[in-house]
Amino acid sequence: MNTIFLFVFCFLVCIAEAKVEYKLFNVMNYGARADDRTDNSVAFLRAWNDACSRRGKSTILVPQGSYMLHEIIFSGPCNAWMNFQIEGRLKAPSDIYLFRTDSWISFRYVDKLNVGGGGTLDGQGAFAWTKNDCEKNQNCRTLPTTMTFQFVTNGYIHHMRSINTKQNHFVLYGCKDMVLTRLKLIAPFNSPNTDGIKIAMSTGVTITSVNIGTGDDCIAMLYGTKGVRISDVYCGPGHGISIGSLGKSNGEDDVDDIVVKNCTFSGTNNGVRIKTWTAVLQKIMHVSNIHYEDIVMENVQNPIVIDQNYCPSHPCRPKGGVSSVEISNVSYRFIRGSGNSNVAASLQCSPNKPCLNITMDTINLWPSGKGKKLNNECLNVNGASYGIQIPSPCM
Ligand SMILES: *[C@@H]1O[C@H](CO)[C@@H](O)[C@H](O)[C@H]1NC(C)=O
Ligand SMILES: *[C@@H]1O[C@H](CO)[C@@H](O)[C@H](O)[C@H]1NC(C)=O
Ligand SMILES: *[C@@H]1O[C@H](CO)[C@@H](O)[C@H](O)[C@H]1NC(C)=O
Repeated sequence: MNTIFLFVFCFLVCIAEAKVEYKLFNVMNYGARADDRTDNSVAFLRAWNDACSRRGKSTILVPQGSYMLHEIIFSGPCNAWMNFQIEGRLKAPSDIYLFRTDSWISFRYVDKLNVGGGGTLDGQGAFAWTKNDCEKNQNCRTLPTTMTFQFVTNGYIHHMRSINTKQNHFVLYGCKDMVLTRLKLIAPFNSPNTDGIKIAMSTGVTITSVNIGTGDDCIAMLYGTKGVRISDVYCGPGHGISIGSLGKSNGEDDVDDIVVKNCTFSGTNNGVRIKTWTAVLQKIMHVSNIHYEDIVMENVQNPIVIDQNYCPSHPCRPKGGVSSVEISNVSYRFIRGSGNSNVAASLQCSPNKPCLNITMDTINLWPSGKGKKLNNECLNVNGASYGIQIPSPCM
């Protein structure tokens, strides 16, 4: 009985599967030129539009070779399931004045999007980095992100290398159910604001087996980020895996349900960090249910950080100011390795909204230099420690 049922079931599924029509759209057939100089955006867009408008499964192929590509927006909704296969190398113009938006390659309003292929995205950022004055200028020009996903659902982003991005490597905004895996994101440690993966207003994001060495946060989770699973990420150099910065302006959505597991930080200036601005907002926002487990620190400046006095650029309120973000249910478990400042965990919570239910379980952090000593520092923290604690707990 069961075998017959299975047989019939498979038969039906196989028929349904056979009905999905696959079709390949090679950009070379749309006039693309892999000569390193000619802008290919028109050819790529024509391939995208043809692939997007038909039903079935469409593969857009960018074969091996080096392609100059100006700013481009691949928009849905599409009738087809889109598979963007980049086998070659895409090069951004180095001239930032050729960009009208803050993104180089954008995907918008697409459901069921697959982007991969083993190729390289070369942001050619060296010139842009010299034009970045965000440290001094609050209204600084936003430089292009290498690849942006806006309102994309069911995305599978994999097997790509992003090098020398002008600003962020990957940005997810308004996305749902995304997997990012087998990515390599590289930029020099001193390239300004080159975040690896930046997420906001998105739900259900899995990031696994990703190698990031860049000039800013390896991963940054901003307002409205919920249900994120991060594992097997190697971060270094960089500024660590961050939640925030948050609470700078009114109307930011909460951050909830984040798990970071089995990650390594090497030579970064932070490991796992939550940062919120000192700012008085109309409404309290929440960061809760955050779990870090099996984290290795190698020579990290600030391994564990909660900083509710975040104030990277002027003007901002004086230290000791209050934050309008309430942080609760944060747990750290099995964190080990070395730090190179004198602080292992620095938990600086807001005096008006103390951190609630912060737990530390089995932490072993030692100084990476001889004759040094690590300490933990807590301010306005409610929580508890379990298991071995080196250095001794401050809660
Ligand atoms: C942890 O990460 C390492 C390296 O990133 C990987 O080789 C290993 O399989 C991972 N372990 C688990 C249990 O996922
Ligand atoms: C504290 O947070 C942990 C998860 O981090 C949760 O399991 C526990 O129930 C919380 N305790 C309270 C009293 O909310
Ligand atoms: C903290 O965890 C407890 C237990 O899991 C849960 O009941 C509570 O809602 C959580 N707090 C927040 C703000 O999510």
